[in-house]
Amino acid sequence: EPIIIRDKTQMRNWSRTMRSQSKLIALVPTMGYLHQGHLSLITQAHKHANLIVVSIYVNPGQFSPNEDLSTYPSDFQGDLKKLINVPGGVDVVFNPKNLYDYGGSDGDGDDGGEKGDGVVSCVEKSGFGHESWVRVERLEKGLCGMSRPIFFRGVATIVTKLFNIVEPDFAVFGKKDYQQWRVIQRMVRDLDFSIKVIGCEITRENDGLAMSSRNVHLSLEEREKALSISKSLTTAKSAAEDGQVDCEKLRNLVIQCITEAGGRIDYAEIVDQQSLEKVKFIKGPVVFCIAAFFGKVRLIDNMEINL
Ligand code: PAJ
Repeated sequence: EPIIIRDKTQMRNWSRTMRSQSKLIALVPTMGYLHQGHLSLITQAHKHANLIVVSIYVNPGQFSPNEDLSTYPSDFQGDLKKLINVPGGVDVVFNPKNLYDYGGSDGDGDDGGEKGDGVVSCVEKSGFGHESWVRVERLEKGLCGMSRPIFFRGVATIVTKLFNIVEPDFAVFGKKDYQQWRVIQRMVRDLDFSIKVIGCEITRENDGLAMSSRNVHLSLEEREKALSISKSLTTAKSAAEDGQVDCEKLRNLVIQCITEAGGRIDYAEIVDQQSLEKVKFIKGPVVFCIAAFFGKVRLIDNMEINL
């Protein structure tokens, strides 16, 4: 059974003790409501490290005030059961209460939330006075960054905080959140974190739907319609492999399929796997990234195309 740690000093002390015994530690950061996709990251982590830390923390820093922080699903006891049964086991579940509450006032003298300029996170609204952020300036801008301007700033910052608290040797991320994985990889390189970032393939339901904690919010009907995302991505990928390298044509195919199913496209872009810059004709490794709404639920998915 994993140890549950909620205090960040205790977490760091555990890691330092283990590292002094030459153990290799892998961190798997999550926001909980675990599914098979998360558990697959743990399986990958076991290939590299002796000890596994899974963090469960719904990070207010990556949610805008108009987003779904308050309805983000959680089931800590259910998560624990899954982690107890995962092959190879998990050593620590790090489940901090509030990683932005440093005690005392926020230092601006009014002890209230900050107003900001409309591009603020739930942390700035909360009035704890946290004001230091990590930005990956170019990679954070496209794709999900278009409709969620503070999202990757929040992710890069919380992952930095977790890295500084857990001090892992490895950190494991899913390619389901492709841009997130690339942002973290770049941050680790640019800022000389002494951590190896591992990217894991997307885990899908049997019918192809990419697993996501948000899938529980889909009605049965919406879930059926949402299959148009993975289906059209698969179609586009085979079309590309059969010689259709015109991205405009491939995008239209996917946009039409998802729209006809009743989805609302946020973006559908074919981008370079490394730079995430848009591509007009496929020449090298690209990734087809999609975000679409079914009802109120925003889903993302992607497929790598390696021609
Ligand atoms: P969360 O959405 O809980 O995802 C945690 C990790 O699981 C991420 O690395 C994500 O890419 C991976 N993951 C989710 N669904 C997956 C799937 N179907 N297949 C493979 N991997 C999958 O991503 C976050 O949390 C947060 O942004 C976080 C990194 C924890 C920072 O707050």
